[in-house]
Amino acid sequence: MKINLNPEDPKNKIIVALDLPSAAEAIALCDRLPQVNFWKVGLELFIADGNTILQELKARHKKVFLDLKLHDIPNTVASACRVATKYGADFLTIHASGGKAMMQAAQGEVLGSSTQLLAVSLLTSISANELASDLKVSLEVSDYVSQLVLLAQESGLTGAVCSPHEVANLRSLLGKDFCFVTPGVRPAGSALGDQSRVMTPQEAIAAGANYLVIGRPINAAPDPVAAWEQICQNLT
Ligand code: C5P
Repeated sequence: MKINLNPEDPKNKIIVALDLPSAAEAIALCDRLPQVNFWKVGLELFIADGNTILQELKARHKKVFLDLKLHDIPNTVASACRVATKYGADFLTIHASGGKAMMQAAQGEVLGSSTQLLAVSLLTSISANELASDLKVSLEVSDYVSQLVLLAQESGLTGAVCSPHEVANLRSLLGKDFCFVTPGVRPAGSALGDQSRVMTPQEAIAAGANYLVIGRPINAAPDPVAAWEQICQNLT
């Protein structure tokens, strides 16, 4: 079932990452934060107990971002997407670097379902130096990200995951209807962790993000409820 949230309410723009090792811990966080309407289930939790948590979130009428970051040959990714639609997730991620044929095949499998595909461009943990020195990509970060996201749009995907630093430029290239989801968001004063290109929630929205993914500043906070409320207050 498709869940429709008021898009004008700033709290509905925040997707909280359930980066936790078990369904029991994830459900405990959902219990503490009934105000959260949109949750992200990533690889750790999905591998640990995906079916349990996804069913639980849907039973609570929550929106779900299933962040599996699929990347394989077109047939394999398309089949995985077809099977993933049974969970009724609202968003599902695949890597744009898997190429156009892979993205088109995946898109063909989710059409008509309630699941929309987002392309992962470049992980926000990858710095410009790592891109050039280790991955030997000769493009600037912003040009590489633009190329991957344009390819995703050409392949028919709904949107992309990218750094908040790239949103303004990408929005001007891809138009108002493409959906941008930005991790790498940190309320002022919180720890960066392994993210190297961050913005505050207010800055990311102002730059043009449709949704923000926020993990450790809420799920690892000593008081997740206070952390959530502070972020929402700053967004209004
Ligand atoms: O804890 P933190 O706020 O850094 O969590 C960010 C979340 O967004 C993680 O679940 C991570 O997997 C995800 N993500 C990311 N960078 C991307 C795509 C997704 O950090 N490019």
